Amino acid sequence: MNNLVRFGVSLDKKLLDRFDKKILRENYPTRSKAIADLITRDLVSTETEKIKGVVAGTITLVFDHHKRKLLNTLTDIQHKFHNIIISSQHVHLDHHNCLEIIVVKGKVHDVENLSSQLKTVKGVICAALNIAKAENTP
Ligand code: NI
Repeated sequence: MNNLVRFGVSLDKKLLDRFDKKILRENYPTRSKAIADLITRDLVSTETEKIKGVVAGTITLVFDHHKRKLLNTLTDIQHKFHNIIISSQHVHLDHHNCLEIIVVKGKVHDVENLSSQLKTVKGVICAALNIAKAENTP
């Protein structure tokens, strides 16, 4: 275990409280173990390293449209990737929150790049990428 790295993470207190309660319920011995499992699950769930060629899928975003410039930023990013976006649907969830589902088809690298750019915009509350292989390649 001499490859362990320590790093600092800043989190919203409420989010950390919820996470701590969850890992207590699941009997994790340490926060580090729980975080390592989360990271592993995330890496495995996309498995994009194994997928080559063209993929199709969805990017789902939840955000507060009142946040300054947020909607413009999300739109600007999507225009940069117009060639891989098939369609998008915007749902007004309530007074503040919007749900956007973006259907994509393209090279895995481009789809991941779009997803990362969208989910890291400040003010995006929740983001998920789901992809599947979209062509039969040998
Ligand atoms: Ni909306």
